[in-house]
Amino acid sequence: MPGFPVRRMRRLRRNERLRALVRETTLSVEHLIMPLFVRPGKGVRKPIEAMPGNFQLSVDELTAEVARLDALGVPAVLLFGIPDAKDEAATSAYDEAGVVQQAIRAVRKTTPRMCVVTDVCLCAYTSHGQCGVIVEKGGEKVVDNDRTLELLARQALTHARAGAGMVAPSDMMDGRVGAIRKALDAEGMTDVAILSYAAKYASGFYGPFREAAESAPQFGDRRSYQMDPPNAREALAEIALDIDEGADIVMVKPALAYLDVIRRVRERFDVPVAAYSVSGEFAAVKAAAERGWLDEKTIALEILTAMRRAGADILITYWAADVARWLKET
Ligand code: PBG
Repeated sequence: MPGFPVRRMRRLRRNERLRALVRETTLSVEHLIMPLFVRPGKGVRKPIEAMPGNFQLSVDELTAEVARLDALGVPAVLLFGIPDAKDEAATSAYDEAGVVQQAIRAVRKTTPRMCVVTDVCLCAYTSHGQCGVIVEKGGEKVVDNDRTLELLARQALTHARAGAGMVAPSDMMDGRVGAIRKALDAEGMTDVAILSYAAKYASGFYGPFREAAESAPQFGDRRSYQMDPPNAREALAEIALDIDEGADIVMVKPALAYLDVIRRVRERFDVPVAAYSVSGEFAAVKAAAERGWLDEKTIALEILTAMRRAGADILITYWAADVARWLKET
């Protein structure tokens, strides 16, 4: 390749037409999934303080929000539930009349073409806020992997029966993708896809979400099941196992501080890769923008484009509706 002055890198940056012509990465609305929080009640639109512009919504408000997202071209939503009651066994997580199950049925009626993805995890439904069933082992409270699997499979089944097109297990128990696939297939729901939170790290970036989902652990933390942030090879092992168990799409979460992991997953595996730009990533930018220190739109588009450049096919982001609007403007 010739050097300067024969080769001038600025030649193709002279105007927007040229820049667009040689642009390597695109960001468009069809890649986006918008997370939404649903709670019991009617007419409820409760702001989530650390996530400006996001709300806990009752089912009626949620269906209105989904219709707006659909009109903007956002193809998918990821539903999280905030139940009325929590207990040790996370009973409300697999209640056919639970808040997420109701929300799925409602959305299927009001906006049938919306792809409804549901978070499958017990943490918002357990009184202790851990993602699985707690047992005593040697005088210590631990999350029991194999007992949790059964409950996760039940939860996923109730979502699928209500009409979810995709279930997204986020608990990080070993074997849950296989358990869920088996349960779905046994009921003939072979078309319901699994988007696995395959490489999910024990991250400080989930802080605002735990306010949003009211799911903070009441004791301990999640490091006995979520991944240790310094590890990347381990993420590849997690992903290989989930694909083997039947994951249709694999996710890396969080995204911004884990772009290297997204890249390695993209290069190693041939299934679609999703990146979850989590609550803390969103909140940090919002806070800086409120102070006038960063421009929100510029930063959000840059961050999300970087995730696509790293290799993500799908982006789960609280900016989904904003991005849809911003892209329409330009
Ligand atoms: C549930 C779950 C969490 C998130 C998604 N599903 C929280 C956690 O694991 O503590 C985080 C999402 C976000 O921060 O935006 N297990």
